[in-house]
Amino acid sequence: MMSKQIYHIPVLLDEVIKEVPILNQGIYVDGTFGSGGHSRAILSIISKKSKLFAFDIDADALANEINDSRFTLINANFKFIRYYLNYFDALPADFILADLGLSSHHLETNDRGFSFMSDVTLDMRMHQDQEITAKEIINNYSEEDLINILKNYGNVSFAVSLALDIIDKRKVKLIETSSELNELALKYIPKGKEFKNLAKIYQALRIAVNNEVENLKIFIEESYQSLSPGGKLCVITFNSLEDQILKSELRKKINNKLDENWLKGDKNERWSKIYKISPTQEEIIANNRSRSAKMYVAIKNNNKV
Ligand SMILES: C[S@@+](CC[C@H](N)C(=O)[O-])C[C@H]1O[C@@H](n2cnc3c(N)ncnc32)[C@H](O)[C@@H]1O
Repeated sequence: MMSKQIYHIPVLLDEVIKEVPILNQGIYVDGTFGSGGHSRAILSIISKKSKLFAFDIDADALANEINDSRFTLINANFKFIRYYLNYFDALPADFILADLGLSSHHLETNDRGFSFMSDVTLDMRMHQDQEITAKEIINNYSEEDLINILKNYGNVSFAVSLALDIIDKRKVKLIETSSELNELALKYIPKGKEFKNLAKIYQALRIAVNNEVENLKIFIEESYQSLSPGGKLCVITFNSLEDQILKSELRKKINNKLDENWLKGDKNERWSKIYKISPTQEEIIANNRSRSAKMYVAIKNNNKV
């Protein structure tokens, strides 16, 4: 459980708030509650008869619960959005938000094992009951799987060399901590580029541990299915892999084929309008975490499916 409160600065907060539709009786969803920064801002502008349902896969987020009768916090994977909204008799939704990735709580709580900045046991599970940890991936996955994870999820340029080193090293002794992993990786990283390159390795492992690609794809599909015609999906991404998934999933037409003219909008599209919003220079200066953020906004078509 969370021992101390770590404040997470919500990214693109003003931009999210501008996208929230004001309705007499709206259903709003925050798929990634975290410290609740976005949820609190949404509650501050929606009507008295509206409801906000928030999800977080991490039980630590429950410590940030908001005391408001319009608010429900659900400790579950956002891919189950439609199931839970149905359970709470809250379908269809008018607005769905997801702010992907880690919170400051994850990075700054050492026993969660996400950070390469301190010596931690390689864990990285967002949901504490999951079986697979980063330690297990590093010590048990095949050479091919390790290379694929490092390349596809982190764009690590020395993926092959690092995977081979990991396999050599683990024959002698299990690799259990971030210091042990960093020591192997630092051989391939030029001086001054340590932060960027280690961040890529840890991102790749975190995505694999938490099945993030699959979760995001299901979440986008389930959000589409959960929204009312004209309803809005906002997803904040932080890396090129998330961007790619957003682009390919949002391009799907009603018949599930990809549409090359996905930004123009036509009758067969699932979304009538899609646009992208980036943080301002002021925000990037004030909050370094926002530098790689992009928000994709998609409005569900009014056509009957
Ligand atoms: C970037 S933080 C969100 C911060 C939040 N917007 C705020 O203002 O504090 C992302 C959160 O999403 C959660 N998360 C990640 N993947 C999830 C998933 N598949 N389902 C539900 N929550 C998830 C993480 O546990 C983390 O708390």
